[in-house]
Amino acid sequence: MQTKHILTTPTGIDLYELSNDSGMRVEVINYGARLNAIWVPTASGQTINVLAGFDSPDGFRGDNPYFNAVIGRVANRIERASFTLDGITYRLAVNDGKHHLHGGIEGFDRKLWRVVEAADGAIEMCYLSPDGEENYPGNLSVSVRYRLAEDNSISLEYRATTDRDTPVNLTNHAYFNLDGDFVSVRGHRVCIAGDSVLLSDEELIPHGEVLPVAGTIYDFRTPKAIGADLVPLDPPVVGKGGYDISYVLRAHSIDEPVATAEAEKSGVVMTVYTDRPTLQFYTGNFLEGLIGRRVYGYQSAFCMETQDYSNAVNVPEFPSIVLKAGDTYSAKTRYQFGLKR
Ligand code: BGC
Repeated sequence: MQTKHILTTPTGIDLYELSNDSGMRVEVINYGARLNAIWVPTASGQTINVLAGFDSPDGFRGDNPYFNAVIGRVANRIERASFTLDGITYRLAVNDGKHHLHGGIEGFDRKLWRVVEAADGAIEMCYLSPDGEENYPGNLSVSVRYRLAEDNSISLEYRATTDRDTPVNLTNHAYFNLDGDFVSVRGHRVCIAGDSVLLSDEELIPHGEVLPVAGTIYDFRTPKAIGADLVPLDPPVVGKGGYDISYVLRAHSIDEPVATAEAEKSGVVMTVYTDRPTLQFYTGNFLEGLIGRRVYGYQSAFCMETQDYSNAVNVPEFPSIVLKAGDTYSAKTRYQFGLKR
């Protein structure tokens, strides 16, 4: 396994490439600690990139829906951008209607991370989020380590420490199309080992209730095409034209698969492992017209964001996401790529 520094862009972003002997390559940049591309070998001998993005890493600085970035301090939603911790009410940046989404106006996806290690198929980056950033309490020191293995899996390991109690929920917002053509993911077959989803209101805020998936369009317990139960709505109506919902996962161990996705044409299969309790399944319902490496269309990519419970800071029934001063946050996710048999 190898790690190479490829280039520094005109705006100061560093691009690295991790490679293994099985022909897989993963490109990583320090802006938002993002994945720039994942090149996967296919049966035809070709290698295809399964991640959405831009021709130059500088493109990520422009408008885009968190393409392949590390999301923090708190991924997903915080109702009314507010929470109370240790008797103090915090008012965060409002960036999603009345709510707070994916860390705020300038979340971790918009920061230049410091590369602390780049060798042997791995790269580790860190970021110090100062006390009061986006109105969160405490200086939070965060790191993420990407490591490519010989079995064509890429692991993501997050760690964080703080000097004051603060909520933490980190994820990666990778946008996949396993055909590599970014036409439509409706034909991808997906399986998610979750028996329920977080019941959310029209503004996608969960309040504590869960909905068993049995008998609903959310049931992916056996493999099903993403489009199988969707109506062809454009623009989408949440819950009808596309998926944008959190699954409560059965397994909580990095050694057990929680989801798979299988491309229609390329035969590429992705298996997701995580020690996090939920997975946000999002089918790129708002990608229409976004200009990157190509003009991305509605549902041309999907995300499987492994994370803690959305809006957990406001829902006592959900497991706490508060990191105590002096404790260490740790989270692991692995995306493994293979071919359909
Ligand atoms: C959210 C979507 C949002 C997307 C891009 C996903 O994690 O659930 O509602 O549109 O991120 O911001």
